[in-house]
Amino acid sequence: MKSILDFARAKREERPVVILTAYDALMARLLAASEVDAILVGDSAAMVVHGFPSTIHATVEMMAVHTAAVRRGAPAAVVIADMPFLSVRRGREEAVRSAGTLMQAGATAVKIEGVAGHEDIISHLVESGIPVMGHLGLTPQSVHQLGGFRLQGRTTEAASRLMAEARSLEKLGAFALVLECVPAALAADVTRALAISTIGIGAGGDTDGQVLVSADLLGFDAEFRPRFVRRYQDGHAAALAAVNAFVRDVRAARFPAPEEVLA
Ligand code: KIV
Repeated sequence: MKSILDFARAKREERPVVILTAYDALMARLLAASEVDAILVGDSAAMVVHGFPSTIHATVEMMAVHTAAVRRGAPAAVVIADMPFLSVRRGREEAVRSAGTLMQAGATAVKIEGVAGHEDIISHLVESGIPVMGHLGLTPQSVHQLGGFRLQGRTTEAASRLMAEARSLEKLGAFALVLECVPAALAADVTRALAISTIGIGAGGDTDGQVLVSADLLGFDAEFRPRFVRRYQDGHAAALAAVNAFVRDVRAARFPAPEEVLA
């Protein structure tokens, strides 16, 4: 993908959009060399990189540092940066400043969780030339309000609220929408109802695309194994084996070898 306009083209052509997260230049370079369509600098960085228990701990400054690193690693990629906790809830001025910081750090677009109560901010950002991706369903910044990381939109009432919010985001000018942890049938309904792309995570196979946290699909966390993630490698075991092989080589005087010694 070259720009956010390609999301609409992909939907028209029924070509699934694939997005993965990156928080640093190394992973960004790897993704830039891959076939993924876009890179998400998710506020999951707060958990994956910084070790916090939730994304509530992400700040604009933190997101800007990660976004700039990803942009340096992937100069031509579509890079979407998360607007962190409360950054769209402290008034228009602060939202514009925060989104501006992320755009100047290198983002192509920003992602905003929820819609109720910050509709005016979303449309103002869009009108200001900042592409906005929505995020509904399990919105992790509201984890305490939601009572934990759990499936959303299960009741008829919750499903129609989510559908109404999705339509609202489309009207406000969002170019795409992440649907996280919602029943597959609801995600399929939303996908059919909207002209903009839906990108699912734990939302079944009928969305217009999929997003995952790279560390999850690469299996770097031995403990975090949600059912909706497919692990494509056991990165934890592979990296641990490599580290221990190095330790053993040093202890047995097998490292460095003559060809690894600088003359
Ligand atoms: O922060 C993140 O990585 C995300 C994805 C899980 C969609 O928002």
